[in-house]
Amino acid sequence: MGAIERSVGQEEFFNTLDDKSDGGKLRGDYSDADAQYVVAQKWAGYTQAQHELWRRLYDRQVRLLPGRACEVFIDSLKKMDAAQGIPDFAHTSAQLMAATGWTLVAVPGLVPDFTFFEHLANRRFPVTVWLREPEEFDYIAEPDVFHDFFGHVPLLFNPVFADHLQEYGKGGLKAMPLDGLTNLGRLYWYTVEFGLIRTEAGLRAYGAGILSSGGEIEYCLTSPQPRRIRFDAERVMRTTYKIDSYQETYFVIDSFEQLFADTAPDFTPIYARLKDVEALSANTLLIGEVNQTA
Ligand code: PHE
Ligand code: CO
Repeated sequence: MGAIERSVGQEEFFNTLDDKSDGGKLRGDYSDADAQYVVAQKWAGYTQAQHELWRRLYDRQVRLLPGRACEVFIDSLKKMDAAQGIPDFAHTSAQLMAATGWTLVAVPGLVPDFTFFEHLANRRFPVTVWLREPEEFDYIAEPDVFHDFFGHVPLLFNPVFADHLQEYGKGGLKAMPLDGLTNLGRLYWYTVEFGLIRTEAGLRAYGAGILSSGGEIEYCLTSPQPRRIRFDAERVMRTTYKIDSYQETYFVIDSFEQLFADTAPDFTPIYARLKDVEALSANTLLIGEVNQTA
């Protein structure tokens, strides 16, 4: 990806949204977005009430992390000075650049797949600028700044995970003409958003959707209801997921090195194979699969 980047028109983007949100409308303000859907964060424009709501979200969540989040998430979050209010992305970007060469870019909300992949492929992580309303404390349908920043940014300080996410971005661009986005999206969902990792201390969460959730962070580790299955890239890419409830299955990696190595092979033959087999429902346990316990 050089200086010239293709871009996706907003009209075209909004027309593809029907299945992603209510009536294809997003709540962010896209009017000032540039061709890569980047906006100014306008940090000075957040109200005291919004900073206060952030602090409440942060405090609730940070208390839930010990024993549930993987260690690198907890350690990185501490370094990020994000406890006092909605963070200034420029500050965290400078820290990240020094640590792993990533930067944060402010966006109005969801962006087109192509745009998302281009950002990741260039080590830029898109973070939504708006914060949920107080009545959405426990649940929002679209990712807001709390989910994007609190959930996703800490792991970008881990060099292996950071490299993996860049590879994912490149893999997304490659998957588009191969019709692989449905499969690749499932991989993202079950790892970057809802992944579990086996550590010496026990099972821990590393997925952003879990770590920014007040309820699922406990549920995913201790509830007897969901399946917890050893990560297998092709199996994951075959598995559908639920977006409006806690997950029915979590996939467990042993390390970020494993995640990186298992997703490094060329996916072209996998996309081709998966075209001919039926997808697995989110609550499948295949013969031979072991449902792991915490
Ligand atoms: N190896 C994948 C491919 O060839 C790309 C990829 C890398 C996808 C890392 C996800 C994560 O398409
Ligand atoms: Co997310």
